[in-house]
Amino acid sequence: MADSAGQWQEYIRDVPDFPKPGIVFKDITPLLANGEAFAATIAEMAALVGSDVDAIVGIESRGFIFGAALAQKLGLGLITVRKPGKLPADVHSIEYELEYGFDRLEIHRDALSAGHRVVIVDDLLATGGTAAATVKLVGQLGATVDACLFLIELDFLEGHKALSGTRVESLLHY
Ligand code: PRP
Ligand code: ADE
Ligand code: MG
Repeated sequence: MADSAGQWQEYIRDVPDFPKPGIVFKDITPLLANGEAFAATIAEMAALVGSDVDAIVGIESRGFIFGAALAQKLGLGLITVRKPGKLPADVHSIEYELEYGFDRLEIHRDALSAGHRVVIVDDLLATGGTAAATVKLVGQLGATVDACLFLIELDFLEGHKALSGTRVESLLHY
């Protein structure tokens, strides 16, 4: 239970035709605005992270929200994977395809190294392009991905196929 008003799943709202016609956007802002619902999601995510994990990797923007809260709960650091031109030092950069367009992600070259074991966190798995690009960036630094962890997975887009070979955990499937 998230709180006396219901389960945390009830705080995710469908917004049709955003950001483009035909997309049903899963809006997490009502969940974030409810302290008990938000805390319940972080507790469920934390239970899926092994004790041998060294850091959480959060994907800008919505992945930062869950990644930062999860890192704090577990006493781990947060590595930020960011949209282009935001990280100030030397970066690895990769282009990827979204459900509704193209984008690019970057990671600091000195953020991780061989021997580090991480969990990648984002709010939602759709086509898998974002998470697969992040797995590649982490791999370029020599680090190992223990799992990709999502609040929501859109099963019909089969994003897990883009992540074959990586453990994928999602709290809620549509
Ligand atoms: C959304 C969502 C995931 C990604 C999932 O991010 O937060 O990161 O799309 O899509 P995919 O599995 O098809 O790659 P988006 O880049 O739209 O923006 P935001 O997180 O900055 O709001
Ligand atoms: N990111 C990609 N597809 C999405 C969707 N349908 N709802 C929310 N975020 C998304
Ligand atoms: Mg995102």
